[in-house]
Amino acid sequence: MPDIIETDKLYKSYSVGNREVPVLKGISITVRNGEFVAIMGPSGCGKSSLLYLLGGLDAPTAGSVFFDQSNINKMNDKSKSVMRRRNMGFVFQFYNLVQNLTVVENILLPITMDGKKKKDYEQTLDNILEIVGLTERKNFTPRELSGGQQQRVAIARALIASPKLILADEPIGNLDSQSGTEIMELFRKINQEKGITIVQVTHSQEAAAYSNRIIHMRDGMIEKDSAEDFAAIENLKK
Ligand SMILES: Nc1ncnc2c1ncn2[C@@H]1O[C@H](COP(=O)(O)OP(=O)(O)O)[C@@H](O)[C@H]1O
Ligand SMILES: [Mg+2]
Repeated sequence: MPDIIETDKLYKSYSVGNREVPVLKGISITVRNGEFVAIMGPSGCGKSSLLYLLGGLDAPTAGSVFFDQSNINKMNDKSKSVMRRRNMGFVFQFYNLVQNLTVVENILLPITMDGKKKKDYEQTLDNILEIVGLTERKNFTPRELSGGQQQRVAIARALIASPKLILADEPIGNLDSQSGTEIMELFRKINQEKGITIVQVTHSQEAAAYSNRIIHMRDGMIEKDSAEDFAAIENLKK
């Protein structure tokens, strides 16, 4: 399968006061189309920083990120945000919904921001509401929903533009275990039935178990990538 993401020796430092603090120290990974990847590692090791670079939400200090063979760090801000809106969906720990918009309005935000007509998305919207199980609550506002339901809205919003990739940062980090399991089941369905590639950052072994590849990070570097184990097994079979 072709690669959807490729990074080449990614470095990221943040300036804190007059000091440069290195956070990512040469990350080279490829993610293949259709994979469901979990990034794990101790708090502060750089997982979120890496995820934001993969989505072009932040720029690396050195190195590059390729999405579908295009170097996203060479795009200007406008084409980068168009590329993001059309190809990527983001899901965050705290849902990031607009409180005074309804479920439907929240889900359609990427479409309206892209200047597209809502009515061309009616069918897709109904379909997605069905998938995330919110058809009955489509006119509710976020504060009328549980945490798990709010995260379903965020996932629906991530799906509306039929992205190739979903990037999720601790998507069940704020949920009880029952809702967390339901959200992970939903991600599995999206990955398997729609073939959408998913990269999730997680602390949870249970959430990571839904992935088919686990990348362990430590101190800004990759400590272990289960894809290498699979590759070794494939080689042994030959
Ligand atoms: N905008 C920022 N400015 C300065 N330091 C940051 C910034 N974002 C993250 N960091 C630091 O980078 C390190 C890695 O952060 P992060 O990528 O959020 O780790 P993780 O998601 O693995 O917990 C932490 O030490 C954090 O304090
Ligand atoms: Mg984080």
